[in-house]
Amino acid sequence: MLKDDILKALLEAGDYCSGQALCERFHVTRTAVWKAVARLRDEGYTIKARQNRGYRLQNTEYLLSQASLDEAFAAQTFLKRWVFLQQTDSTNLEVKRAAAAGDPGPTLFVAEEQTAGRGRRGRNWSSPPGSGIWMSLLLRPKLRPERASILTLVTALAVTDGIREATGLEAAIKWPNDVVVKGKKVAGILTEMSTDMDRIEFVVIGIGINVNTESFPEEIQSVATSLAIEQGKRAARTPIIAAIWKYFAAYERLFEETSSFAALKERYETLLANRNREVRVLDPDGEYTGTAVGITEEGELLVLRDNQSLTAVRSGEVSVRGIYGYV
Ligand code: BTN
Repeated sequence: MLKDDILKALLEAGDYCSGQALCERFHVTRTAVWKAVARLRDEGYTIKARQNRGYRLQNTEYLLSQASLDEAFAAQTFLKRWVFLQQTDSTNLEVKRAAAAGDPGPTLFVAEEQTAGRGRRGRNWSSPPGSGIWMSLLLRPKLRPERASILTLVTALAVTDGIREATGLEAAIKWPNDVVVKGKKVAGILTEMSTDMDRIEFVVIGIGINVNTESFPEEIQSVATSLAIEQGKRAARTPIIAAIWKYFAAYERLFEETSSFAALKERYETLLANRNREVRVLDPDGEYTGTAVGITEEGELLVLRDNQSLTAVRSGEVSVRGIYGYV
């Protein structure tokens, strides 16, 4: 589409591009260029127009685009393909469609906006344009299906370390896979799996991060936050995405090579926000309270119950709540 070509040209130029040059480059009329610029503005891009100089894209560090991803991923070898979409229903659904078409992965889909973003437990995941990172990975790991849930913990680790590195914020993990800053959720992970007999066909790892969200509805203000709210300024999204997949590539390799979470357990526990906190475990067989003391090599949460017995809690079966807050 012309508007995408023009966006790419403006991003590459990093300066004014004359309307005439754009017309000649894409073999279109002045009016077509002007209309494409208007559409880009509708999508939220700030494009300055000056007589005799042409068009210039402003605040480019806050933009997501195919070009910004191409640059961020140029030197890495883990991702084989990455696709930026201005709008989609859900990046998890993009992955499923790509997998059905035979994509070998690892392939990453990043969307500016999702119209049907989904969270865990069938909830909606609000994914407006401009404010977040909504992305999903297609992976075909050589793992037994029962080990796949550990990939969610590996992802939580990568998201947490990526956010810490790119922003300097002290992000932490609420077991098993929420990422929190100062006790409130900034990111969630939705992992889905397709199996064929006793083999994993593919895994979808969906990550949603509230980056530049300015405020949240009152009913979730006590549990949700964004990176911008916590650091008091907007954050550029591309460096966060790049840092996350750098850590993921390293952690996932370690996990697949050793077929164990043991090598990552220590780092996970260091980042575990629940550690030494009182938690309520909502087990379908009965609720109980205790203190979270760490995790096992299988990724279960170890809870020292008030009756002094030690219980390993498996993710998926139960949910764990903080007693004095979200964590
Ligand atoms: C959660 O409930 O905490 C998980 C939220 C996961 C949201 C992400 S956004 C990108 C990907 N696409 C979706 O539809 N969901 C995940």
